[in-house]
Amino acid sequence: VTNGRTILEIFYRANGQFVARAQVPATEIAALGKLGYQFESHPHHGYRLLAVPDRLTADDIQARLVTNVIGREIIVFEETGSTNDVVADLARHGAKEGLVVFAESQTKGRGRQGRAWVSARGKGLWFSVLLRPTWPVHAMPRLTVAASVAVARVIRQTTGLDARIKWPNDVTIQGRKVAGILTELHGAAAILGVGLDVNCRSEDLPPGVPATSLAIETGEPQERPAIAAALLAALDELYATATTNFDAVVAQWAAWSTTLGKQLVVQRGQQRLEGHAAALDGDGTLLLRKDNGQTERLTGAEVMVEK
Ligand code: BTN
Repeated sequence: VTNGRTILEIFYRANGQFVARAQVPATEIAALGKLGYQFESHPHHGYRLLAVPDRLTADDIQARLVTNVIGREIIVFEETGSTNDVVADLARHGAKEGLVVFAESQTKGRGRQGRAWVSARGKGLWFSVLLRPTWPVHAMPRLTVAASVAVARVIRQTTGLDARIKWPNDVTIQGRKVAGILTELHGAAAILGVGLDVNCRSEDLPPGVPATSLAIETGEPQERPAIAAALLAALDELYATATTNFDAVVAQWAAWSTTLGKQLVVQRGQQRLEGHAAALDGDGTLLLRKDNGQTERLTGAEVMVEK
């Protein structure tokens, strides 16, 4: 059978080239046209995909994907509370590793430390991935490290922008936050939430914090479905690497980190720790070398200021 997804797969594989009419029924082309896809029709060469709608759909994202685990099931909500909560619910009911839930808008998007996460409708990528890592609990910080590398890499590859990682979970451009990651553990399930400001204008971003978006930085709107698929592919690859060869992930993180080598002030409960960010260990824990020579392990739960 041919359906929208298979047809889209054919066009994405063709990579902007013409596809013969025999491969793509005119009725399917018309159906995709109604959804906002635009084709060039040529009497001899067939059809060529010219433009895609700025709308997230499971069919579109899956048609672009060639991943193993992440994205084998995708659900898109027009609106939800928090995609992390949706995935936690589905995980409780036995959902498989690799499930991804996107929302065009979130009414209760949240960030670390109980902060709200502003999710302007249709302007960003707000999604959560269900993982079931077989690692020990102390190695779970690897997830956020791997995810931050994936997000930075996709931004760099698709826009050429100099995306950096501010430990533990921010991706920044010129010191302004463009993405955040919220990893939550529910028993054996790990929920990896990613928020990326893609086409947000400055009025769509939270006030009072230095934030930016890919559109603001590049000066042009970016194709959200393409970035969504690239993110899932990168997450899939880095999740696998974090399992088999975490050192390689750390090396990439170190190259893009704004934190490494910096003097940090960390609030841990009543305690105030100060020292420099010396290294990331094999669990994804940041090692803080204090001035007295002692080393503290930072899990990411603490509030931190880079000096
Ligand atoms: C942070 O920077 O503090 C983390 C932000 C994480 C935001 C994403 S958006 C999708 C997912 N659902 C949420 O409620 N939060 C994460």
